[in-house]
Amino acid sequence: MKKIVVAIDGFSSCGKSTMAKDLAREVGYIYIDTGAMYRAVSLYALRHNLMNEETIDEVALQKEITKIEITFRPNEQGHSETFLNEENVEKQIRTLEVANGASRVSTLKFVREHLVALQREMGKGKGVVMDGRDIGTVVFPDAELKIFLTASPEVRAERRFEELKQKGMEQPFEEVLSNLKERDFRDQNRKESPLKQAEDALLLDNSTLTLQEQTDWLLARFQEKTK
Ligand code: DC
Repeated sequence: MKKIVVAIDGFSSCGKSTMAKDLAREVGYIYIDTGAMYRAVSLYALRHNLMNEETIDEVALQKEITKIEITFRPNEQGHSETFLNEENVEKQIRTLEVANGASRVSTLKFVREHLVALQREMGKGKGVVMDGRDIGTVVFPDAELKIFLTASPEVRAERRFEELKQKGMEQPFEEVLSNLKERDFRDQNRKESPLKQAEDALLLDNSTLTLQEQTDWLLARFQEKTK
């Protein structure tokens, strides 16, 4: 069967990573979570005092960007985890603080260039499912299968709220919703590679779909492209 690149882009918290992981497991592809890479840069910047709530020390971050090594390794259950300079940071990168920082560092051209180059390297042998905001438009404009995933802000905030609660990191719903809207705005309006649907991407609104319906839909699209 021919190997392809699957690009899944869309808004935050609409289930891109669940969808991408499920497909990768089902068809034996490698899953690459590009959001985790922006989060790892954010964590690095926060830890090294290169960013606070108001400003980013862009000059210092640019000098250090090549020192930020990001890799993915499977854990004992076979789930991919994010490593920053050899340290497993999978849990640390999932906080709201790091997510907000990721949304801010992802507006910087030199950060994007560095991460896009790494992502292209990771996907050059094909057989990957990559999720993010610019995979179908910038990272792999020639990807054979492109999906643009969306759901209403309220549905996405509800899912995120439940996820945080389950992880013991509960936040008021209103805060989760306003944080999500703020990130949507920044993702869509930044100068560098704003979030938008590629012309040849298939649009899927999963607001009212079950996980199974979504998985079946994606698998059918994948089979069409690889047969
Ligand atoms: O998908 P996520 O929430 O883990 O992404 C974190 C941030 O990184 C998000 O605000 C948008 C940004 N991002 C990006 O700009 N480009 C990508 N390919 C992936 C994520």
